[in-house]
Amino acid sequence: MRIPHLVLVLPLLAVVGATQGSERPEIQEQPRLPGIEAEDYAWDHQADEIRALLEQEVDYEQGRYAYVYCQGCHRQDGSGRPDGTYPQLAGQHASVLIKQMLDIRRGSRENPTMYPFADEHILYYDDLPHIAAYLESLPIPPDNGRGPGEDLARGERLYQQDCKRCHGANGEGDAERFKPVLAGQHYGYLVRQTVEIRDLERRNANPDMVKVLRGYTDGEVRAVSDYISRLVMPERTGSHR
Ligand code: HEC
Ligand code: HEC
Repeated sequence: MRIPHLVLVLPLLAVVGATQGSERPEIQEQPRLPGIEAEDYAWDHQADEIRALLEQEVDYEQGRYAYVYCQGCHRQDGSGRPDGTYPQLAGQHASVLIKQMLDIRRGSRENPTMYPFADEHILYYDDLPHIAAYLESLPIPPDNGRGPGEDLARGERLYQQDCKRCHGANGEGDAERFKPVLAGQHYGYLVRQTVEIRDLERRNANPDMVKVLRGYTDGEVRAVSDYISRLVMPERTGSHR
C-alpha cells in the first residue's frame, strides 16, 4: 500500500524542487498556526487529542514501516546527525514525538525541511501513535554529538538552577507533561533550539521556559547545552539495534 504512495510522491517532490514559483503544489507550503506570539496561545492546546492517540493499541511493526520515510534524515536507528542538523529521536517520549509531529504538520513549529514528510501525503494521521511508540522503544545512542567541554561547571550550575525542575536530573523530561528527553541529544541541535526558544522563533515553545531563558547570553546557552549533551538516561540508553 505504501510503496505506490512513495512512487507517486517522490517524483512530485523532485518536480517541486526543479520548478519554482507558480506551479508549486500545496504539499510544499507549511501552514502557519498562531504560536507563542499570539495572546491566547496555549502551548499544549492539543493535549487531549495526544492523550487519546496514546491510548490506542500500538503496532510497532506499523510504526517501523511508517518510519522508513524519515530515515534519510533521522537515520535508521533514529540517531539523527551528530552535528545536530537532524535531531536524535530514539528513546524520546511518545507524547513529545506526537506533539512535535502535529505542531510541524499544522504549522506552529516552523520546519520547511521536514514539512513535506510530516504532511498527510506521507505521514498518515493514524500512524502517529505507532511511529511514536516505535521511536520511543529504540535505545538512545550513547555516542551523540557533544559540546567542546570548556565551560561545563557553568553549564551544570545553569542546568541545576533553571532546567532541572522540568527536564529532570538526568535530562529525562516528563512524558505526561510533554517535556522532552534531552539526554543523548546532539549539542548542535540543543544550541539551535535553545536560541530559537529564547528568541521566540520556536513558536510552539513552553512560555515558562521562555521566561527562564530570557536574558541568557549565547555563551550561557552553549555552556548549558554542552552540559545537557553529556547527560545520560540509563534506562533508555543502549547500543544500536
Ligand atoms: C528532509 C529531512 C527530514 C525528514 C525526511 C524528516 N525530518 Fe524530522 N526533522 C528534520 C529537521 C531538520 C528537524 C529539526 C528542525 C529544527 O531544527 O527545528 C526535524 C525534527 C523532527 C522532530 C522534532 C524532534 C524534537 O526533539 O523536537 C520529530 C519528532 C521528527 N522530526 C520526526 C520525523 C518523522 C516521524 C519523520 C518521517 C515521517 C521525519 N521527521 C522526517 C528533518 C527531517
Ligand atoms: C517550565 C518547564 C521548563 C523549564 C524550566 C525548561 N524547559 Fe525546556 N522544555 C519544556 C517543554 C514543555 C518543552 C517542549 C515544548 C514544546 O512542546 O515544543 C521544552 C523543550 C526544550 C528543548 C527542545 C527539545 C527538543 O527535543 O526539541 C530544549 C533544547 C530545552 N527545552 C532546553 C531547556 C533548557 C536549556 C532549560 C534551562 C535553561 C529549559 N529547557 C528549561 C519545559 C521546560
